[in-house]
Amino acid sequence: MSKPNREVDHYFSAEPKSQDRFGLIKAHLCGYKFEFLTSSSVFSKTRVDTGTQLLVESMMLPQKGFVLDIGCGYGVVGIVAGTLGKSLRVVMSDVNMRAVRLAKRNIMMNRVFNAEVRYGNCYEPIGELRFDAVLSNPPISAGMDTVKAIITGAPTVMAAGSSFQMVIRSKIGAKVLPELFEATFGNCNVLARESGFRVLIGKL
Ligand SMILES: C[S@@+](CC[C@H](N)C(=O)[O-])C[C@H]1O[C@@H](n2cnc3c(N)ncnc32)[C@H](O)[C@@H]1O
Repeated sequence: MSKPNREVDHYFSAEPKSQDRFGLIKAHLCGYKFEFLTSSSVFSKTRVDTGTQLLVESMMLPQKGFVLDIGCGYGVVGIVAGTLGKSLRVVMSDVNMRAVRLAKRNIMMNRVFNAEVRYGNCYEPIGELRFDAVLSNPPISAGMDTVKAIITGAPTVMAAGSSFQMVIRSKIGAKVLPELFEATFGNCNVLARESGFRVLIGKL
């Protein structure tokens, strides 16, 4: 008899072991229609997450320059950013290889030609690039240490005058995370608030 596999997949696993079970989401966001291929062991497989939706509908994008979607999952935030800002260069990154593969396919499927996807932990895959906006729907399930690392590490990849925008659940970290924004960027404002989520912005 074969032993049960006790290894558990998470949406932030580096290479999920579960079999791909694909899904297709059709979404209407910011006045555009999108289609997203999803699969098992990626975040929000069956529908665009409410926090993601609030982030894309309230995010402030620069006219031109570089935008980073850190922890891109199957790619909603970066794909919407690249669609809204045709002069932008969008970089998307994730620590889950399956999410990276899906985000690459979704870029092609939605005909977004100004975006690319990189694999790796936090800001490691970024190299020398500096961004005018960094966008994040953070991996709360991976633990607060990861969320905090995404916030405190952001200035290392941010250009002067840029912004860091993160959607959070109002119940989780509503006090701690604004304090960390203040400590990291010297300021913190709320861009939007809806359905138990809020979008925080810190500017360099
Ligand atoms: C809450 S999900 C958001 C996904 C996508 N941005 C969205 O809104 O649908 C967070 C994402 O962060 C990724 N993640 C977790 N830990 C990470 C890390 N250390 N570095 C980069 N990405 C990470 C997860 O794999 C997951 O795809």
